[in-house]
Amino acid sequence: MSSQPMDADVYAGLQQSARDHLWMHFTRMSSYDRADVPVIVRGEGPYVYDAHGKRYLDALAGLFVNQLGHGRTELAEAAAKQASQLAYFPLWSYAHPNAIELADRLAGYAPGSLNKVFFTSGGGEAVETAWKLAKSYFKHTGKPYKHKVISRAIAYHGTTQGALSITGLPDLKKEFEPLVPSTFRAPNTNFYRAPEHGDDLEAFGRWAADQIAVAIENEGADTVAAVFLEPVQNSGGCFPPPPGYLQRVREICDEYDVLMVSDEVICAFGRLGHMFAGERYGYEPDIITCAKGLTSGYAPLGAMIASDRLAEPFQHGTNMFAHGYTFGGHPVATAVALANLDIFESEGINKHVRANEGAFRATLEKLLDLPIVGDVRGDGYFYGIELVKDKATKETFDDEESEKLLRGFLSKALFESGLYCRADDRGDPVVQLSPPLICDQQHFDEMEQKLRAVLQKAWSML
Ligand SMILES: Cc1ncc(COP(=O)(O)O)c(C=O)c1O
Repeated sequence: MSSQPMDADVYAGLQQSARDHLWMHFTRMSSYDRADVPVIVRGEGPYVYDAHGKRYLDALAGLFVNQLGHGRTELAEAAAKQASQLAYFPLWSYAHPNAIELADRLAGYAPGSLNKVFFTSGGGEAVETAWKLAKSYFKHTGKPYKHKVISRAIAYHGTTQGALSITGLPDLKKEFEPLVPSTFRAPNTNFYRAPEHGDDLEAFGRWAADQIAVAIENEGADTVAAVFLEPVQNSGGCFPPPPGYLQRVREICDEYDVLMVSDEVICAFGRLGHMFAGERYGYEPDIITCAKGLTSGYAPLGAMIASDRLAEPFQHGTNMFAHGYTFGGHPVATAVALANLDIFESEGINKHVRANEGAFRATLEKLLDLPIVGDVRGDGYFYGIELVKDKATKETFDDEESEKLLRGFLSKALFESGLYCRADDRGDPVVQLSPPLICDQQHFDEMEQKLRAVLQKAWSML
């Protein structure tokens, strides 16, 4: 249940250095003026341990990353072996065996004609790469004005300036404006708060997809290069695609010659019980962006996987896609990815997710008896729990209440209870769950019990 606590002096030194020097990401640094920075030192299976030796269930897989759980020595050994053999070489006009083998393997998993793999160091870079490819492709094929992107409200696609421009979260963007121009928003698939067809999921999906066509028409199809969407949108708290939605988006993209980019930075590699989401929902995008679970987080790696058609203009004469990253397709990261995918196969990880996702859903749905739980939604091992002030009217919390509830209480209380997950209010307030894919009923129960206790307390404090 616990592990050895860190020496008190070492711990005090780390706290001081963290305050003095470590700039944490998306972190209000002042939160740690009077509180300790949580220091996680070790992981084993779906659990992590802090410097005091306290155990937490890692119900967010780090950051939607750790598919196989912590402490997998096979992955650590694959990294060590590769680092001793060839630590680094770029993919700029050269190759190494791991990158070649992994590209071949990803092309095999990806749907249809998505056969060309461009490696990056992470998800945001994959999104940048996809937009740049879309622009460049149309320039090479006689449609030079096609450059704009349609994406969906509240969607997160990364923090680099292009990916942030595609992101649909105004509060995240405003300090960095002006961003890359030419991105436009369409509705997401939040059925719980459907502005139209709230009683008919399929009709709602059709409407939401058709709004993408409206956005394309409004901008002029000859200026729009791509639509970026996640199969299940994370931000806002897990919006799965209604039946027929992704197929309708595909039709619209074909009709207007706009590329469909499936941002699977979270959804790929087992999160939805398949390597890629196309297999689950039956659609074929033009581009997939992926990262995170590709290595289960044992090394940083991302990829953009493009169709043969998009790569074609770059296969001849002096043409090239003038784009790259020093660490894209790093030998150690690709070695880890290969070992990770080997384990997916040998341990039947996707099958395990498909066999257990119903139990995960059913366990989380028990929480619907709490007055604060408005909706439980998601697919695979990827869920959002929306919190409401009034279940009957679906009334949500105002900014002040949300601040008090999520930041002031929930995030801390959940962590103190031994559950690492995320309380988020980038849309309406939600708790996000995305556990390692090795989890089973005992872990689902642990999540439900800890959430129940903390959410009951939150409700009593309102
Ligand atoms: C859908 C999606 N796209 C892109 C990104 C950006 O990935 P990264 O943080 O690796 O740059 C994320 C990160 O969470 C994401 O969820």
